[in-house]
Amino acid sequence: MKNILLLFALILPATVLRAALITVETHDLAMVFTAEPDQKVIYQYFGAKLDDYSAFSIRRFPHWADTETENVAPELYLAYGGRSYLEPALQVTHSDGILTTQLAYSGAESKKIDANISETIIHLKDKIYPFFVDVVFKSYYKENVISQKVVINHKEAGAVTLGSMYSAYLPLHRNEPYYLTHFHGTWATEMQLTEEKLQPGIKKIESKKGVRTTQADHPSFLLSLGTPAQEDAGEVYAGSLAWSGNFSLSFQIDETGTLHILSGVNPFTSAYPLKSGDRFEMPEMIWTYGNSGKGEISRRFHDWSRNYNLQHGNDLRPILLNSWEGAYFDFNEQVLTDMMDDAADFGIELFVLDDGWFGNRYPRNNDDAGLGDWQVNTKKLPRGIDYLADYAHQKDLKFGIWIEPEMVNPESELARRHPEWIVKSGRREMPTLRHQWLLDLSNPAVQDFVYQIFVDVVNQSKNIDYIKWDANRHVENAGSSYLPADQQSRFWIDYTRGLYNVYERIRAHYPDIMIQLCSSGGGRLDFGALRFHDEFWTSDNTNPSDRVFIQYSTNHFFPAIASAAHVSTSPNHQTGIVSPLKFRFDVAMSGRLGMELQPKHIQGNERDFARQAIENYKKIRPIVQFGDLYRIASPYAEEGWTSLNYVSKDKKEAVLFAYSLKTHARTKYLEVKLKGLDSAKKYKITELNMVKGRSTFNGNGNIYSGQYLMNIGIYLN
Ligand code: DGJ
Repeated sequence: MKNILLLFALILPATVLRAALITVETHDLAMVFTAEPDQKVIYQYFGAKLDDYSAFSIRRFPHWADTETENVAPELYLAYGGRSYLEPALQVTHSDGILTTQLAYSGAESKKIDANISETIIHLKDKIYPFFVDVVFKSYYKENVISQKVVINHKEAGAVTLGSMYSAYLPLHRNEPYYLTHFHGTWATEMQLTEEKLQPGIKKIESKKGVRTTQADHPSFLLSLGTPAQEDAGEVYAGSLAWSGNFSLSFQIDETGTLHILSGVNPFTSAYPLKSGDRFEMPEMIWTYGNSGKGEISRRFHDWSRNYNLQHGNDLRPILLNSWEGAYFDFNEQVLTDMMDDAADFGIELFVLDDGWFGNRYPRNNDDAGLGDWQVNTKKLPRGIDYLADYAHQKDLKFGIWIEPEMVNPESELARRHPEWIVKSGRREMPTLRHQWLLDLSNPAVQDFVYQIFVDVVNQSKNIDYIKWDANRHVENAGSSYLPADQQSRFWIDYTRGLYNVYERIRAHYPDIMIQLCSSGGGRLDFGALRFHDEFWTSDNTNPSDRVFIQYSTNHFFPAIASAAHVSTSPNHQTGIVSPLKFRFDVAMSGRLGMELQPKHIQGNERDFARQAIENYKKIRPIVQFGDLYRIASPYAEEGWTSLNYVSKDKKEAVLFAYSLKTHARTKYLEVKLKGLDSAKKYKITELNMVKGRSTFNGNGNIYSGQYLMNIGIYLN
């Protein structure tokens, strides 16, 4: 028996070594696939980089044999057909009505795009049909991020229909529990972190809202192995789908304990016809993996986002005053210029005129009229936008303005002019949400119209520096008057593609303008939309004791430079909660600081404090916006406090934020061990935003080594 085993071991490598190894690598990561001509490509490995991958040519798990009695080996891209019964990444109805697809390897290529990015394409073809799938990886070497997407084309006799078309499939086989972290919420409580142990069966995280897709669930997740995700230890996989339409993340544990992860466009009522010769490209899934906890994962996403996703990701963001919570719809020129005077006095750098500036026949004096009619309201603003933008520039403030170009109020000239542009389900009633309907961006004429709104608004003054793009409803009763009756299911995908088409045209013509991504707060926060924007409005909820939760979760994927955080009025308009100005500033200063209130209402000591805090922010801004984030204590933990620090890339400077979230006994001190510092460097501590010069820390002004601060830490009262 021994001899036979030995013989087997000697022979096996020789036979399977014919399989080609395909690797996708970054500085620390590798994805490994094996491929043989006309056979399926096997997904072997995604994890830390190894010195030698040749062992992957030997089958790793006994149950991966492709026989009748055993389970099938995980493929690179799992199509419905052959032996697999799992939730498929791809389901196609071929032109002859056949429902199955069996993909086989037909080649691979790899090229360097630049010194940091490489692209690897693995070509697959159906074993019978002229149906082709390219799986495309881009690896970002320094950032340790890999993007993955799929491109389909075919030369069948007639159209095929794509039933499921996920962007990525990842199989993991471990004999330990899988913990899924995902993000859930609603308006004003976006991105609440939830973690659960996955059980056999399928867990799905998805959106069917079409627009405002991230207001409930989010297309980003962390997957920790063995234990719930820790900050600084343990293996964590992370992915975020760059798509602003319906999405689906599927986590299926099969009977072998293998976890099959699918991420991509939600197949829900989205069957997509594809004509012979046409190309269908799926959104990118952004991946990383680390074996030092989720802190490292977040820093990788932040670096990648600043370098490759955000617009102007390496430029400091201005501190702004937004008119919304200070004036709502109730303003005239004087109100706004007074706000600008105050903004300049506070040291603010950008003034943003929010909703309410447009509509004449149907004036936008409330949220029930005017959307769609993008002419300046001459009663409120007789000298137009140009006058206001000039005024801002004279005060050394940049100028920004709000639009919501995808939407229309029934009470508008546009709704009367173009009822056929409104998303509706045949003869069914069109439900309004926030008194508004959605324009059908699957229609190219509507895309042109929305693009032109942007152009016309920007053309109102040469001094417009910033646009806030809002979207305050989602899709209900989906349907398009533009799409043919038998192709209504294209609506969901074509809407999002239409939106991207508009964004692309805007960016081609306006590369410099700053644009904020907003959808009732963080309702459209994904890397697909973010790549056209400079920042996002994190949430309408600016109450600091809620914001620490929202910002803590959001910063798992999205960097502080893009996370707009505003100081607003107390009691807070959304929650009614009273908070000290210091708390409001301290929380907003851990993101992209702004103010959103009537600045006249801040007087006396509070005004001095606000001016000082803004000056302080200017000092710490490069560390917050360009530095590395280290989370120290989670607000979700029971201790009732939360803390984080940012460290500059050269580790010469760091800024620590710590917040108490409940009453702590006077005898208790919060022990804060900083992270990410240089042990050998000396750091002088300066407490900022002190109220009446009172310090909460008895070592203020002292010098400590990085080693001391990270291992012993400091105590806060
Ligand atoms: C929702 C946004 O989140 C707010 O900041 C504000 O712009 C309003 N819309 C305006 O209608």
